[in-house]
Amino acid sequence: MIFTTRAAIVASIALLAMVVGLAPAATPQFDDLRNQAPVHGDAAAGATKAALCAACHGNNGVAVAPTFPNLAGQSETYLYVQLRAFKDGARNNAVMQPLAKTLTDQDMRNLAAHFASLPGKAAPQKALESSRGSILFHDGDAAHGVPPCQGCHGVDGKGPRPDPRSTAPQPAWSTFPVLAGQNAPYVLTQLKAYHDGTRTGTSNDKVMEGVAHNLSAADMRVLADYVSKQ
Ligand code: HEC
Ligand code: HEC
Repeated sequence: MIFTTRAAIVASIALLAMVVGLAPAATPQFDDLRNQAPVHGDAAAGATKAALCAACHGNNGVAVAPTFPNLAGQSETYLYVQLRAFKDGARNNAVMQPLAKTLTDQDMRNLAAHFASLPGKAAPQKALESSRGSILFHDGDAAHGVPPCQGCHGVDGKGPRPDPRSTAPQPAWSTFPVLAGQNAPYVLTQLKAYHDGTRTGTSNDKVMEGVAHNLSAADMRVLADYVSKQ
């Protein structure tokens, strides 16, 4: 009896070891952007390719319709990592995915440099600083677990400032987007996508998934409206 029990234990340990041994090594199912080096493309070369983008993102990177994102003045590294995410399937979009597949890595760097170098669109109206959107953006909502957006997107939505005491490049922050002046309908779609877990292909998406998880539909609307007027 003792022998069979022991044999059974040995056998199950061996089986367990086999299962563990055969299991594929845990690989992250997303692009890890934490160590992304800041990108520096050739803006002039990017300009020669930008005609491909004008139908939706406009000649000057200011979108032709508010459901499309403005690209002008956006962080160069952010633009590049988004194009790469469309190309490798980490970010889903029926329009951008096939288009990005036609671009080389160098094209994406150059296009990112081109659009980042263009002046951003001036906000059509001034944001109301006493609004719920402004309060959420600057202070968050501790009772509902919403962090202040400004901590990562900058007090004015123009992106985080690197540590003024540091002269080192800030690779993580260079992948954080500018929100100021972005189109409200586009921003709302993205907040919903993070909230619903449909934009989760990169480590940065997962950060925003956590942020958007606790946002109500009404909060998403006022935030989208607020940042579009920053
Ligand atoms: C037919 C319309 C169309 C064309 C042409 C187009 N785009 Fe887009 N683009 C979109 C849409 C729609 C989105 C938003 C996708 C989403 O909701 O995730 C987008 C998103 C993007 C984003 C992400 C922006 C952000 O803030 O996250 C980048 C970067 C981008 N496009 C770059 C380009 C470049 C570069 C070109 C030209 C090579 C281009 N697009 C051509 C429709 C277009
Ligand atoms: C802890 C840092 C952090 C906080 C806090 C944060 N964000 Fe973000 N946000 C990010 C990062 C990183 C990205 C880039 C995600 C990606 O690559 O898709 C991002 C992306 C976004 C985008 C997509 C922009 C685009 O062009 O597609 C929107 C919209 C956004 N954030 C809104 C907000 C709002 C509104 C809040 C406050 C409720 C907020 N964020 C708080 C880090 C943060």
